[in-house]
Amino acid sequence: GAGVEVDISDLPPGGVKTVEWRGKPVWVMRRTPEMLAALPQQDAALADPASRKDQQPEYARNPQRSIRPEVFVTVGICTHLGCSPTAEPAGTSNPSVGDQWQGGFFCPCHGSTFDLAGRVFKNKPAPTNLEVPPHRYVSDTRLLIG
Ligand code: FES
Repeated sequence: GAGVEVDISDLPPGGVKTVEWRGKPVWVMRRTPEMLAALPQQDAALADPASRKDQQPEYARNPQRSIRPEVFVTVGICTHLGCSPTAEPAGTSNPSVGDQWQGGFFCPCHGSTFDLAGRVFKNKPAPTNLEVPPHRYVSDTRLLIG
């Protein structure tokens, strides 16, 4: 089917855009250098830090799970039973994510938590990391999802 184009030129550092692709929400987040620096620090707490389970295209099989490190594209649907997680920044007051929280996503349905690369934390109901959909850059500021 047809892909969805996203203009990322107005996406601020730390900001997220949601677009609909095949009836699903897809998030496009511009990660800051601080957000990227936090990723490797979480590895020991994650269920599948290297994303060995096939939840991303080959070109996103890297520590940031993205083509450009700063731009993260993921399907905004929990891999447990399909609720939509919410973005929880570092320093959130949400007690469910714990006091070591460095920012990421929280699923309110059964409490799965994901880091800023969509990688699920250990001992959570979600069986895999969030899915990275097929995508590519059609220009410096435009992404095509699908
Ligand atoms: Fe997200 Fe169950 S649907 S934790």
